[in-house]
Amino acid sequence: MKIRSVAIALIALACSPQASAAPDGAALYESNCAACHQVNGGGIGLPLSASKLATVSDNYIKSTIRHGRIGRIMPAFPELSSAQVDAITAYIRSWSGVAGPQYPDTPLPGDRRRGGSLFKIYCSSCHSSDGSGEGLGTGVTYSRGRSFAVMPPAITNPGFLASASDHMIKRVIMLGRPGTAMKSFLDVGLRDNDFNDLVSYIRSFEAKQRIPSAAAEETEKSPALMFDSPNDFATTIASIKSAIEGKNFRYLPDRHLEKGLTESGQVNRRQMTIRYCNFQQLYKMMRVEPRLGVGLPCRITVIENDDGTVQLIAMNMRLIAQLFNNDQLLEFAEELHEIQLDIIDEALL
Ligand code: HEC
Ligand code: HEC
Repeated sequence: MKIRSVAIALIALACSPQASAAPDGAALYESNCAACHQVNGGGIGLPLSASKLATVSDNYIKSTIRHGRIGRIMPAFPELSSAQVDAITAYIRSWSGVAGPQYPDTPLPGDRRRGGSLFKIYCSSCHSSDGSGEGLGTGVTYSRGRSFAVMPPAITNPGFLASASDHMIKRVIMLGRPGTAMKSFLDVGLRDNDFNDLVSYIRSFEAKQRIPSAAAEETEKSPALMFDSPNDFATTIASIKSAIEGKNFRYLPDRHLEKGLTESGQVNRRQMTIRYCNFQQLYKMMRVEPRLGVGLPCRITVIENDDGTVQLIAMNMRLIAQLFNNDQLLEFAEELHEIQLDIIDEALL
């Protein structure tokens, strides 16, 4: 029992350094955001200026913190609690002295094709032809075009689309963002239906991308996945191994959980970690993100409690990969996550 809670505490600690901090918005901003956004923005992140805050809702800020901009520099912060996200948002909001606007969630009617043509003429020089913002003033790497004090963001990014309502996007295009290259397109002579068409075009990228649903995220928040086994300790281990082989994975020599932590004579033999891998898969992932080495190979730990019940503990690969905010890695982790759940499903039959 004791070692189990220590192990879980260690995993939790490694994955969410802020989990237990009291929600002090200023301190959380300082430790999570200021490195890029400084105070009021500037730096690497987009400015969070008073004029911008007057045009974005609190929900937009909260959702941006949660989802980040996958594949860009802006990280997702799935490990922050709702109270912490609220505290950071309230702190940022306090810079502007005005409450955030509320936008209706209703979609705007528009002609996506026509919007696409307008986009090519008026927007793609900065936001790139597909809105990804790649190319000029890129936010993909830490460099940016010399001509931009503020880089053009990725406006087709799933994190942006999940956060911004149609009405907010329209307002940005109409009014621009003072002090940046994003000017008001009212001044250029675009009209109301042009703005709606542009919004429809930008929104159409949403269907091409995937963002985890709120419900799925809720159940997937824990860094450790735990399952009760219907079988005894030895049977559970044997069935996990056969499920691993069934998936064309190999498992490494048995290792007791406490190995290396306790003198060998005192190791608890009722706590076993089964490490398994498929070298091709590992290689693919390590090439994308070498830091992932700390979490690999995959492992499932089997524990027999004092009352004889047996439990499995596995790492939540999907959640851990999300911390790296890297699309390609997420895809591989997703694959491994499913395989891991299959193995556990089969072992628990
Ligand atoms: C590693 C750098 C980095 C960190 C850390 C970071 N951001 Fe960002 N943030 C960015 C970048 C870069 C963008 C622009 C997104 C793009 O490139 O499309 C951005 C965009 C945003 C936006 C959207 C602004 C707009 O104009 O729409 C908000 C809001 C935001 N960040 C808030 C935060 C908050 C709050 C935190 C801390 C919890 C944070 N960011 C941490 C780099 C960062
Ligand atoms: C000259 C370069 C330039 C052009 C042209 C341009 N933008 Fe921008 N755009 C920017 C920059 C820079 C920002 C970031 C400003 C900020 O938020 O601080 C931005 C921000 C935005 C945002 C807000 C995104 C966010 O993360 O907050 C939207 C939406 C947007 N632009 C849409 C458009 C559309 C649609 C067009 C064409 C009608 C367009 N832009 C043309 C440079 C440009």
